[in-house]
Amino acid sequence: MMGRLPFIAGNWKMNKTVEEACELVRQMKLAIAGAEGVGVAIAPPFTALYAVRKELEGSAICLAAQNLFWEEKGAYTGEVSPGMLKGVGCEYVIIGHSERRQFFGETDETVNRRMKAALGPGLKPIFCVGETLREREEGKTFPVIERQVEGGLRGLGEKEMKSIVVAYEPVWAIGTGKTATPQQAEEVHRFIRERIERIYSRQIAEEVRIQYGGSVTPENIKGLMIQKDIDGALVGGASLKSETFSKIVRFKEM
Ligand code: PGA
Repeated sequence: MMGRLPFIAGNWKMNKTVEEACELVRQMKLAIAGAEGVGVAIAPPFTALYAVRKELEGSAICLAAQNLFWEEKGAYTGEVSPGMLKGVGCEYVIIGHSERRQFFGETDETVNRRMKAALGPGLKPIFCVGETLREREEGKTFPVIERQVEGGLRGLGEKEMKSIVVAYEPVWAIGTGKTATPQQAEEVHRFIRERIERIYSRQIAEEVRIQYGGSVTPENIKGLMIQKDIDGALVGGASLKSETFSKIVRFKEM
């Protein structure tokens, strides 16, 4: 069986004007050029997608969006549809990020609707799950992850699962500088892979890429990536500078 290709994605969140985004992409293209054996995506805010797509022409870096709505069109002021993201050149879309769950009322059910809507026109979801500090302290990490995984994937078949990347992002590690230890992360990654095996098959579980997210830096990426079930990273803060992001992408060279 072929190994899983590592996948590093930068989630820019609500940062960068169009001009700033283009400047950052130009720097990243240079800094990342020639990096081998790794897939890379960046997720700028909606407003910068079109301009960034133009900057990315001829580059191996893929374009991702940070969210989408499940309807294709209509009276949904402020929302963006799967077809619009496809049309602007997105290959991936982040779904169910903990900030969406925390601040914008996202639930397992709405995550599931977004997953189905994304897959329709061929977008690849980066499907986020993760427990809060309280849930971890109460010993509920595994049941929470299980609920999120099963809820988000409900009704999706094997073929669809092949287009999905999972991101495990413990909420307490996001933007806090507190990374999960490689062992803490690996334990949950293994659990997620086992759940996927149970829902689908051994083969699907072996193929699915599971990223870790939460205060990933050039300093801690290597320790995470040597874990058996960690296949990449979803990077927030450190993806806003080409210097740090490119070091993370080039983790094999460090
Ligand atoms: P962080 O964010 O790297 O800034 O912790 C990660 C994320 O939310 O995807």
